[in-house]
Amino acid sequence: MSSYLISNVSVVGAAPTDVLIRDGVVAAVGAGLDAPEATVVDGTGLVALPGLVDLHTHLREPGREDAETVESGSRAAALGGYTAVCAMANTSPVADTAGVVEQVWRLGREAGLVDVQPIGAVTVGLAGEHLAELGAMADSAARVRIFSDDGHCVADPRLMRRALEYVKAFDGIIAQHAEEPRLTEGAQMHEGEVSTRLGLTGWPAVAEEAIIARDVLLAEHVGSRLHVCHVSTAGSVEVLRHAKARGVRVTAEVTPHHLLLTDSRAETYDPVYKVNPPLRTATDIAALRAALVDGVIDVVATDHAPHAVEDKECEWAYARPGMLGLETALSIALDVLGPQWDLIAERMSRAPARIAGLEGHGVDPAPGVPANLTLVDPAARRTIEPAELASRSRNTPYARMTLPGRIVATFLRGEPTVLDGKAVL
Ligand code: DOR
Ligand code: ZN
Repeated sequence: MSSYLISNVSVVGAAPTDVLIRDGVVAAVGAGLDAPEATVVDGTGLVALPGLVDLHTHLREPGREDAETVESGSRAAALGGYTAVCAMANTSPVADTAGVVEQVWRLGREAGLVDVQPIGAVTVGLAGEHLAELGAMADSAARVRIFSDDGHCVADPRLMRRALEYVKAFDGIIAQHAEEPRLTEGAQMHEGEVSTRLGLTGWPAVAEEAIIARDVLLAEHVGSRLHVCHVSTAGSVEVLRHAKARGVRVTAEVTPHHLLLTDSRAETYDPVYKVNPPLRTATDIAALRAALVDGVIDVVATDHAPHAVEDKECEWAYARPGMLGLETALSIALDVLGPQWDLIAERMSRAPARIAGLEGHGVDPAPGVPANLTLVDPAARRTIEPAELASRSRNTPYARMTLPGRIVATFLRGEPTVLDGKAVL
């Protein structure tokens, strides 16, 4: 195995030092390290972070390999600074059996660019009627610990209760896409002043908040772990704050786009801004940012949702919801939070790795830890060109925007997956 000496690099914002990587682990951290056999990577001006971990990635394989594959999504992830991603279950066929989660897990290993941890479906076919084979997925080679019907809400409270009870035996997690379906029938965007003006059917904040309120009570009753996907409203933050104060075992994520973009984007009628849950208001954004800082929201997760051109470049009402996220997430976090490196490391690496139980990930570079890390150039600015993204899809809402920060290198177990800002494999 190879050795790399990253010289003069700031580890999570600290004073510059050297980091020596050897045999897959961080061999040493300290000023003036000498390792003649190692390849030197000049870290001057760069910040080393523990490799980013995404709790919410849509890789589209099996079924929609035209939009993304495990390999193309893994490459996008590595280029975004990620060393591990959790792959959502709304594939075709749905990842609701041991066979499908093992397939995704194996494809991830073969691509070898990030660790791909499959998420299993909660219900058969995401239909919300019968529990999927949660135990078989947990016992499979993929060792599934997080289950989600993401894209759909587990709306039936009895089924949600059963799911929480089932995963309690192995300390699993139900990750909920919180959307009361009866309140969002026909919804096209956030319900508010803009939807009224545009005449588009609204998706009210309460449709999310009501499910989160119900589910934190269920999680408390059962004593299980609940994770709330893509929290998007100020009211949801208050429900979560209350639940956490009561000691409920709940964690929550927010996406980069919900931290930056408002529902006024819908005025363009450009479906690239159509997403579920929808973009909300400036008031919601302020509450989400504050919650991310104070810890009511634990994690930034991308909800990377690649879609083929024909599913996105059509009339708003027919377009699929979702936007790309992996290759821009760190830049958006830097834009929103500024150079608060410890906070960024916590919300984008340590906390998601802890929640997903991903050993060897989310650990700051220190002697003996697996060398899963990423190097960021915080001074760089880059203009997003959709055609240059590694994703097979092009539906980024940040096209031609100039964003701060650039991923210079990513290491997975001591081997570079990205060097000089380019994918190695
Ligand atoms: O916008 C979204 N896209 N929200 C979801 O919940 C699902 C996702 C997708 O799969 O495209
Ligand atoms: Zn979702």
